[in-house]
Amino acid sequence: MSELDIHRMILLAVFVAAGATFAATGLKTVPYGRHRSGGDGGFGIPERLGWVVMEAPCVFGFWWIFQQGGNKGELVPMVFLCMWMTHYVHRGIIYPLRKRVAAGKTLPLLMVVVPGFIFNSANAYLNARWISALGPAYPIAWLWSFRFLYGALLFVTGFVINRWADYKLRTLRAPGETGYRIPRGGLYDEVSCPNYMGELLQWIGFAIATWSLSGAVFAVFTAANLVPRAVSHHLWYQRQFPNYPRRRRAIIPYLL
Ligand SMILES: NC(=O)c1ccc[n+]([C@@H]2O[C@H](COP(=O)([O-])OP(=O)(O)OC[C@H]3O[C@@H](n4cnc5c(N)ncnc54)[C@H](OP(=O)(O)O)[C@@H]3O)[C@@H](O)[C@H]2O)c1
Repeated sequence: MSELDIHRMILLAVFVAAGATFAATGLKTVPYGRHRSGGDGGFGIPERLGWVVMEAPCVFGFWWIFQQGGNKGELVPMVFLCMWMTHYVHRGIIYPLRKRVAAGKTLPLLMVVVPGFIFNSANAYLNARWISALGPAYPIAWLWSFRFLYGALLFVTGFVINRWADYKLRTLRAPGETGYRIPRGGLYDEVSCPNYMGELLQWIGFAIATWSLSGAVFAVFTAANLVPRAVSHHLWYQRQFPNYPRRRRAIIPYLL
């Protein structure tokens, strides 16, 4: 069996996992953050540590796998590497360290950290290996193709929205505070979860810019994971705050 066959099998497995995730998270919201009460989700590890461990494959694994590929020194793969690392160095290291976490708060090991680690390992392999070894030899002219320019524009737009929205949530809490408030202003006037909306835009953009099944399957998985969670957040806000703005949607302005 060639490595390309193995790559295709993992692609298929992640695609199936996306369907299973969508079905499962539609039935029961993954128990972390506001959706975890008491020992829900079982034994947990400290939240910051949990995030760093879970995202490590996308930071260190992606970097290492990319370096093994024959195209690692080519310009276009290096641009994709920069896009990926710009997101994941923040998500995997800076974000967990700066998060305002209640003392003693944990992330369920078996229900969140382990599945997250496995998915991120598969995803890092699929994308890093495709870009630096198994995929096409992207010519420099790729950088001014419509696919790349449009995909990169979506990626940057999503990145800015995601970072801004996460920053806004962080500033809702004073240091030491643990409760929840209604976020307001900018895209928060349209949707409850602009951070998830930004994340989704980012990976749709990455899939278009790389024009790869690896990128597409990641975008599908992100949607399968974050759309049901955004709906759960939205319903939670409505239950929690009787004065929650009625016109606000969950994740897609005016629609959902
Ligand atoms: N690609 C993917 O599949 C994927 C999957 C998951 C997450 N992510 C990304 O990871 C980031 C974090 O995800 P998340 O699920 O933890 O997001 P989240 O539920 O929106 O929470 C983000 C942070 O803000 C706090 N927070 C949320 N709403 C708040 C409010 N109304 N008032 C005060 N604080 C509030 C949360 O505290 P608590 O923890 O105490 O609730 C948490 O620290 C997002 O950017 C998301 O896009 C990506």
